[in-house]
Amino acid sequence: MEKKEFKRTLVTAALPYANGPVHIGHLAGVYVPADIYVRYKRLLGEEVLFVGGSDEHGVPVTIRARKEGCTVQDVVDRYHNLIKSSFERFGISFDVYSRTTSSIHHQFASDFFKHLYEDGKFVEMESEQFYDEATQEFLTDRNIKGECPVCHAQDANGDQCEKCGSTLSPDELINPVNAINGNPLVKRSTKHWYLPLNEYQPWLEQWILNEHKEWRSNVYGQCKSWLDADLRPRAVTRDLNWGIPVPVEGAEGKVLYVWFDAPIGYISNTKELCDAHPEYGNWETWWKDDSTRLIHFIGKDNIVFHCIVFPAMLKAHGGYILPDNVPSNEFLNLEGEKISTSRNWRAHRQCS
Ligand code: MF3
Ligand code: ZN
Repeated sequence: MEKKEFKRTLVTAALPYANGPVHIGHLAGVYVPADIYVRYKRLLGEEVLFVGGSDEHGVPVTIRARKEGCTVQDVVDRYHNLIKSSFERFGISFDVYSRTTSSIHHQFASDFFKHLYEDGKFVEMESEQFYDEATQEFLTDRNIKGECPVCHAQDANGDQCEKCGSTLSPDELINPVNAINGNPLVKRSTKHWYLPLNEYQPWLEQWILNEHKEWRSNVYGQCKSWLDADLRPRAVTRDLNWGIPVPVEGAEGKVLYVWFDAPIGYISNTKELCDAHPEYGNWETWWKDDSTRLIHFIGKDNIVFHCIVFPAMLKAHGGYILPDNVPSNEFLNLEGEKISTSRNWRAHRQCS
């Protein structure tokens, strides 16, 4: 195939989750490589934009807030500020570093969902989930505890028993209860919206497996194994009170799934910058003109979201360019062990 000529390059770096500080593994794997690439482009005098920001929705920040006895907003404010200043002090040269709790992002992601909804791109499905009638909330796997069906430990988690190591689903627990307050749980039906990834399978196979053979072998290989296993519809909404409300009548108490709204943050952060500073150009030139080369720098646990789910979202919406490359590094090892936030970090626990 003929090599495409691009006029400008849009570089994104994975939006770090505002549930802890960035560590050396993130810097070495994602932010320093992205920064080197961007600085190189700038030195060549090419037009380039480097977009970052914090990913502030999802379940873990809500669990941390409950444990610490502060609001979720307190938690994400604290880590957003910590992460942002770490990047500044480390010299990562983002053109914009914003956050997914910004009002511009909320509006933008909500409109994006609405566009897909009104275009009939989602399928609606009902499923049975565990529900706490006292607090009137649906619970996620990590918020459910019960007796382990294997070793009969009393406080196995909804996804795993820490005593015997068995992988579990909440359905397998004996007497499942709310992990926070011990309340008994019932099953209740709930409606969600799914992106039918299966419908994008032939297109994704063509686009990735045939047209992007140059992607790194770890990235290409992961995409291939997902595609070989056949894609299924994926829920893009959740029952949760932290996040961007689902902009549909009858969807009270539901929010956009964090992996639906976060990558849209790349676009809304670009828009936030360009709207405030016209010298950066029009955000739509960066995202909709096919002479723009889009590159996502990510960690390896983010591959499926950036190579399969987000491109399918952009394709479903229409009008957007797709990533030309998705560089992803293996985890950094320190003294032979994987570096992780939870194991290498113990500070910053107090509320502000
Ligand atoms: N917050 C995610 C993580 O730390 C990355 C999100 S990337 C984005 O693994 F595309 F969703 F923004
Ligand atoms: Zn067990």
